[in-house]
Amino acid sequence: MNQTETRRPDFDFENFTFGVQSTDRMLMAAYKQGEWSDYRIAPVQSVSLSPLAMCFHYGQTVFEGLKAFRMTDGKINVFRMESHWKRMNRSLERMAMPPLPRNLFMDGILELLKMESDWVIDDPDYSLYIRPFVIATESKLGVDASQEYLFMVVLSPMRAYYNKPLKVKVETEYIRSARGGAGAAKNGGNYGASLLPQINAKKEGFDQIIWLDAQEKKYIEESGTMNILFLLSGETLLTPSLSDSILDGITRDSLLKLAREEGFTVEERPVAIEEIIQRIENGERVEAFGAGTAAVISPIETISFKGKAFATYLEADAGMYRLKNKLSSIRKGLNPDTYGWNQLLDA
Ligand code: COI
Repeated sequence: MNQTETRRPDFDFENFTFGVQSTDRMLMAAYKQGEWSDYRIAPVQSVSLSPLAMCFHYGQTVFEGLKAFRMTDGKINVFRMESHWKRMNRSLERMAMPPLPRNLFMDGILELLKMESDWVIDDPDYSLYIRPFVIATESKLGVDASQEYLFMVVLSPMRAYYNKPLKVKVETEYIRSARGGAGAAKNGGNYGASLLPQINAKKEGFDQIIWLDAQEKKYIEESGTMNILFLLSGETLLTPSLSDSILDGITRDSLLKLAREEGFTVEERPVAIEEIIQRIENGERVEAFGAGTAAVISPIETISFKGKAFATYLEADAGMYRLKNKLSSIRKGLNPDTYGWNQLLDA
């Protein structure tokens, strides 16, 4: 690749696995002596760190995930960028890491995208996933907050994260996060700790798990790496209320706003797993789905609890598809962006 080329020519947009390949360039900045500097966009490259670098030892790593879309008029849209920047800073604060200035995050990503614009192809099922992350780089084995960090942004082509409705299992042994923990932060440790239960569930034939609260193992928290929502009787959108053990999902927030516009009643409150099971057993129409940047809306087909599988409502008239279409129409510029969610890239 030379400096003027915007995309390497050999990438197969029809046939790739999410997250395995990045685009050609990345953004980097370093934090030292109390400030961010050494900002640059460079070819994607390996980074060299001391084996004493603190990110290897004490888990000071924070990331975000957002997406760029090609709109129907050809412009590029980065969805809810400002909300992602704010959430990243909340995560950084929780992990005792320095905040990212708005211009470093926003202008940096927009500049990177401008150079990588050919990676945002015009295809309704495609998006370019943006992964900003910060890692602790100070060389020091004492348990402390690092004084040095690296901020990087890589971009990765994406189609559907899940390509079929999910069979999920209610996890009754492990928990994702406890109150007072760091569950609301997008720090690497939350995801690392979720892997073993996830692998175990896969071995049992499930695609994902539903996390329960740590204290009583009674209330639903999230599903895998997504927030979880239920649409009851095609009328009421129900989701666990936020807490410091649940990620403040930006897709979750968007869907709650759009649901109100669609005339659904929205309830954010503690949701006992027994309530959902009871409703399904009573023959109520219960739609269940995960929501997240990567997954958007991922319908759940069955919820297994105490060894029994309960089927949810998945027919073509399910309200969750309406919500998904509404969200996607705004992102593509087909519906008005009344909330100011679309951050357009200057041509
Ligand atoms: C996201 O939806 O951005 C996530 O964090 C999910 C995952 C790819 C870790």
